[in-house]
Amino acid sequence: MLWRVRTTLADRPGSLAVLARRCGEQSVNILGLQIFPGVDGVTDELVLRSPDGWALEDVAALVESAGGAHVSVGACTEHALVDGPTRFLHVLRDVVRGGLSPDAALAGLLETTPLTATEHARAAAFAEVVDELRERGLVVPPQDDVPEAAPVTGDVLVRKASYADTAGLMAMHGRCSHDTVFRHYGAPLARLDLRLARRMLVGEGTALVAVAGGDVVGFATVAPVEDGRAEVSLLVEDRWQRRGIGTRLLGAATRQAAEDGAEDVVMRGPAESPAAIALVFGSGLRARVKLSGDELVVTISTRGLTAVPEERAVSGATVMPLRPTPA
Ligand SMILES: CC(C)(COP(=O)(O)OP(=O)(O)OC[C@H]1O[C@@H](n2cnc3c(N)ncnc32)[C@H](O)[C@@H]1OP(=O)(O)O)[C@@H](O)C(=O)NCCC(=O)NCCS
Repeated sequence: MLWRVRTTLADRPGSLAVLARRCGEQSVNILGLQIFPGVDGVTDELVLRSPDGWALEDVAALVESAGGAHVSVGACTEHALVDGPTRFLHVLRDVVRGGLSPDAALAGLLETTPLTATEHARAAAFAEVVDELRERGLVVPPQDDVPEAAPVTGDVLVRKASYADTAGLMAMHGRCSHDTVFRHYGAPLARLDLRLARRMLVGEGTALVAVAGGDVVGFATVAPVEDGRAEVSLLVEDRWQRRGIGTRLLGAATRQAAEDGAEDVVMRGPAESPAAIALVFGSGLRARVKLSGDELVVTISTRGLTAVPEERAVSGATVMPLRPTPA
């Protein structure tokens, strides 16, 4: 049986040796030991394996008989053997990926009370790092935090993207459901990292963003034209879907491709993409749809498309009034 034990030992040479000898005499194996120095004494945390049949009281009595004060004992698993800083780093990774809220993460990490000064310092450092990453848009909000419907405020702006949209794009990805992300990339993408976000925004080709209330809520890319053809991809955040943003992004992306010299625009998605097909045909663009294995390939002709009006091209932005939220 495994036990996690916390105790305060006298801060003098040999006190830990007494405890180790006592454990040995009773066939209790010490598997892990962490020492937390403090102003008033030293707190030791041990992971002990006792013979079968031992109870909490037996373990506490053993430690007290070796001079331990303030003894607390709890049953545990091998997980308790993971080194403390490593555990903090793993939990930080889960928070960044959106698997855990920062509050739940800290509650799990600080399950032992009272906390030692070392643990206070670790918790404070953890909270500081999470805050900083969150401010930079690098923390994916957990799915439970995503509100059901978007607030209906103001207008949606469709414009060319820039470096300044990096944090907004990453935050938008974090708010998207796994299904939406999967349909867009054709693969699961746990989180969009800084490098990929920057490459998507200012790499080759052109990127467009739809912005509402300061948040990026939609995104389109237009790849460079090759053999008269440009590839376009679209992504609209779940709670902003069905408001015409995808149609608007598709229109802007197709016109951009036409300006770049493309005769055809290609959009790819999983074979099961009712949204993409309905979107393209509803947009009024001339398109052909083909199934190629598991992939849906939509080819849109740019012939006859009017160029972007001069004033819009100059500002690089068009303002689209919101349609009412569907009931
Ligand atoms: C596809 C996508 C870009 C559409 O964005 P959007 O902002 O919701 O699109 P719109 O609001 O302009 O929709 C226009 C029309 O497309 C159709 N449509 C959109 N989403 C649909 C859906 N989930 N199911 C069926 N039809 C849909 C509807 O006919 C809709 O008109 P309506 O709302 O009046 O019925 C968005 O759903 C998305 O990002 N999905 C994840 C990625 C993806 O599926 N990509 C497809 C492969 S490219």
